[in-house]
Amino acid sequence: MEPSIYEFPDIFRRVHMERPGEIPAEVRFLKEIWSRHGNGPVRRVLDIASGNSPHGQILAREGTTVVGIDRSPTMIAAGRREFSSGGLRLYRRNIVNFSLPERPFDAAILMSETFPAIADNDALIAHLRSVGRTLRRGAIYTIDIDRHDGIELVKRRRLWRSRRVQIGLLRVDVREFHRPIAWRDAMHSIYELECTIRFPGHPVRTRDLIPVRYTTPPTIDLLARASGCFAMVAAYPDLSFTRSLDRCRGRWFAVLRRT
Ligand SMILES: C[S@@+](CC[C@H](N)C(=O)[O-])C[C@H]1O[C@@H](n2cnc3c(N)ncnc32)[C@H](O)[C@@H]1O
Repeated sequence: MEPSIYEFPDIFRRVHMERPGEIPAEVRFLKEIWSRHGNGPVRRVLDIASGNSPHGQILAREGTTVVGIDRSPTMIAAGRREFSSGGLRLYRRNIVNFSLPERPFDAAILMSETFPAIADNDALIAHLRSVGRTLRRGAIYTIDIDRHDGIELVKRRRLWRSRRVQIGLLRVDVREFHRPIAWRDAMHSIYELECTIRFPGHPVRTRDLIPVRYTTPPTIDLLARASGCFAMVAAYPDLSFTRSLDRCRGRWFAVLRRT
C-alpha cells in the first residue's frame, strides 16, 4: 500500500499550501473565540486530530496545558520530538470514539479542515459525545470547516489539477483527483491526493483519499443538538468576526458550547 502524506509531517504542510503565519493567526482567533464565548479562563485544551499539534505547541509555550489526539504514530512522534518541554501530551486515539485519562478540558479544537474524516451519522454523534465527555460544562469546541460548495459531482475519477511544490532542494509533484461517490452516501465526493516526493535516488509516492462533505452551519447546529451535549453558539467565516457568512471565502468556524 502506498504511504500517506501524513507520514511526512514537514512536507504535508507545504503540499497543503499552508502560508507562513497561518497557524499563529489561527491560535489568536481561537483565543478570541474563547474570550467571547467561554465562561472562564482556558487553561486546558484538547487538540483533536492534532497531528504534531502546531496549535498546541504555541499554546503550550504560553503556559496552557494541551492534550492532542491523533491516530498517526509518525505525527505523534514528530510532535513529541518538536516539543519535549512539558505542557503538551499526545495520545494515539481514533477521534471518532475515544476516552482519555485526563481531567476535563476548558476548550477543544479540530483544525485544518479535518472534520470530514468523520464519515457517517453514527460516527459524527459518537465523536461529539466523546468530545463532550472530556469537556467541562460551558467549555467551547471550535471546528474549522472547509467551504465545499462548487465542487463538481463526478461520475468517474478525474484529474482536477496538478502542481509542483519546491521545498528547498526537494521537489514534490502533486496530482489531485476527484473521485465519484454513491448518491446515497453521506459525503459529497472524494478528493484523492497523490504526491511524488523526489528524494534523491528514491522517489516516494503517497496517496490519500480524503472525504469531502458539504457541511453548512445548519448541519452542525442539528448535529450538536442530536448529540445531546452541545449547542452551536456561533459561526464565523474565515478568520473574521466582522465579515458576514455570505462573504465566506474558503472556510468557516463552528463554535459549540458544552451544555
Ligand atoms: C490535516 S492533518 C491536521 C493536523 C493538525 N491539526 C494541524 O492543524 O496541522 C489531519 C490529521 O488528522 C488525523 N486523523 C484523520 N482521521 C483521524 C481519525 N479518524 N482519528 C485520529 N486521527 C485522525 C491524521 O492522522 C492527521 O494527523
